[in-house]
Amino acid sequence: MTPATDLTISVEVNGELVEMAVPARRLLVHLLRDDLGLTGTHIGCDTGNCGACTVHHDGTAIKSCMMLAVQADGATITTVEGLAPDGELTPLQRSFSEHHALQCGYCTPGMLMSASALLAHTPHPTEDEVRVALQGNICRCTGYVNIIEAVVAAGEAK
Ligand code: FES
Ligand code: FES
Repeated sequence: MTPATDLTISVEVNGELVEMAVPARRLLVHLLRDDLGLTGTHIGCDTGNCGACTVHHDGTAIKSCMMLAVQADGATITTVEGLAPDGELTPLQRSFSEHHALQCGYCTPGMLMSASALLAHTPHPTEDEVRVALQGNICRCTGYVNIIEAVVAAGEAK
């Protein structure tokens, strides 16, 4: 039986409609990772600081540890798995590979989601614009130079 505190939500995740009952206090990041198995969305801090959990909410990059799952009701969510649903890397992902923009890779999904949201509305960002767009994403391997180069290059290649 569904607990009285659960709420039924309907959310589109990576192009698929998901309808399920979730506890009112469940975070979106836990819905994605634990309920839907989309573990490409990482948890680095759970406090809104690191950006590892970044996903798109109706096209806007948001930190999924800062949003309740019920707040996503009716929204369209894209996770890093949704960037290349057919398995072919996007130009941005290829640019990360070509510019060695990852070391341990823990921050990479969040970086890709923030950068892809930027490129969606600013196709040819300057280095400064990339720095601003990624200011909420921390790379513990401090690989920022290559990450920024990769995003700028992806824009230049468009
Ligand atoms: S896990 Fe969400 S910002 Fe760090
Ligand atoms: S590549 Fe390791 S945290 Fe960024």
